[in-house]
Amino acid sequence: MTILNKDFLWGGAIAANQVEGAYNKDGKGLSLVDLLPAGEARKEPLFNPVKGLKQDFDFYPSHESIDFYHQYESDIKLFAEMGFKALRFSISWPRIFPNGDESLPNEAGLAFYDKVFDTLEHYGIEPIITINHFDTPYYLAEHYGGWYNRKTVDYFLNYATVLFKRYSHRVKYWITHNEINMILHIPYIGGGLMIKDTDNKNQIMYQAAHHQLIASSLATKIAKDIDPTNQIGCMLAAGEVYPNSNHPDDVMAALSKNREQYIFIDVQARGEYPAYSDRMFNDLGVTLQKEIGDDEILKQYPVDYISFSYYSSRLESGDPEINKNKAAGNAFASLKNPHLEASNWGWQIDPVGLRVTMNQIYDRYQKPLFIVENGLGEIDEVETDGTIHDTYRIKYLSEHLAQMIEAVKDGVPLIGYTSWGCIDIVSAGSGEMKKRYGFIYVDRDNHGQGTLKRSRKDSFYWYQKVIQSNGENLTY
Ligand code: BG6
Repeated sequence: MTILNKDFLWGGAIAANQVEGAYNKDGKGLSLVDLLPAGEARKEPLFNPVKGLKQDFDFYPSHESIDFYHQYESDIKLFAEMGFKALRFSISWPRIFPNGDESLPNEAGLAFYDKVFDTLEHYGIEPIITINHFDTPYYLAEHYGGWYNRKTVDYFLNYATVLFKRYSHRVKYWITHNEINMILHIPYIGGGLMIKDTDNKNQIMYQAAHHQLIASSLATKIAKDIDPTNQIGCMLAAGEVYPNSNHPDDVMAALSKNREQYIFIDVQARGEYPAYSDRMFNDLGVTLQKEIGDDEILKQYPVDYISFSYYSSRLESGDPEINKNKAAGNAFASLKNPHLEASNWGWQIDPVGLRVTMNQIYDRYQKPLFIVENGLGEIDEVETDGTIHDTYRIKYLSEHLAQMIEAVKDGVPLIGYTSWGCIDIVSAGSGEMKKRYGFIYVDRDNHGQGTLKRSRKDSFYWYQKVIQSNGENLTY
């Protein structure tokens, strides 16, 4: 017998800036990623107008992306064929407010999402909406300094209010900001921040994060005023940080590293900055500029549930020399864990880490959890007969789902599971198409070549069975 509720939300997740394309159609303004190329050149230092390094590149992967803007109907039909109960997607802020600071929305942008909602409704798929998934309008970054500027809070609230008014009758679960802690790791995409070498980087990032936190709380208030049944979630790029050894210094270092991610959720779930934040800010040279009433706002409007992404655990040492050997991860650097294998992109694979992470988050906050991203970015080969045998992905997902179910047995309440990039999309980190997460293959390469044709991978049929059995049948 499956332990999962019969209304468990199985599905997939995507983000506007990684799927839609049509980057300048129907009045859309520029997204932050619309100015980023693929590959090595994508790294932020190469693109930083503050440094006078604004460049032209030959190819921008987001401009066409996988063309979800025109193919959403057939894509959603494929999601329905897999049995999706939910689709997590984001609304493109610059499609609704092209520059961000307008007072009235772009009706053509809203009309597009009206049609997406209609299609989902037709197939009985519940929309889970991320309001800001790495998609602050570029104009706000360039002219206002992004989230460092308090005015961005007002612009975000104006945008969020439009969405709550228009879609509250169709959406129950909302997420204010995707991976709020990513602002510390990819500040341009996370917060529209363009930081100079001479700036106090921590001051800018934590101040911008404070503005996102205030915006999230105020959005919660507005959402509840409009419709008290709205459920508002925070979203954490999660993954427990393990100590590199049983040396007490390593244990303390891991605890501190974990606090770097949990600080934001401490605020969003408990309604206040945690006790350790004073010392942490002091050590980092950060003085938060708060307005009168900010603490009350945070306290009054905490989130209803905690959503998170999980790709990997991490490893931290108390010895700075050892930490110099850190390697890649989901924008997080981590030491290599000798007990774990890694993907071709160096992301370490740790299914048990998902159970650990779920238990840690629930122990800490006692609010329902929602896994809104998990998956394996890998290279897929199309056979001559058109089939795609992605056994490595099936193995990864199956092992993670098994641990997810263990965590539910441990007593963690879980709303649902939406696997990341359920159809192949442009990678946020590298801009590549080659790094594929999907159950559905999209014929497009790193240079924008390909027919955009969709094909079902082996994992498509596997996930169909998983959903159909409500997680009972994970075999591969
Ligand atoms: C998460 C983001 O950090 O990881 C997604 O919310 C992103 O937008 C995902 O795509 C996977 O990262 P990447 O770099 O492989 O696309």
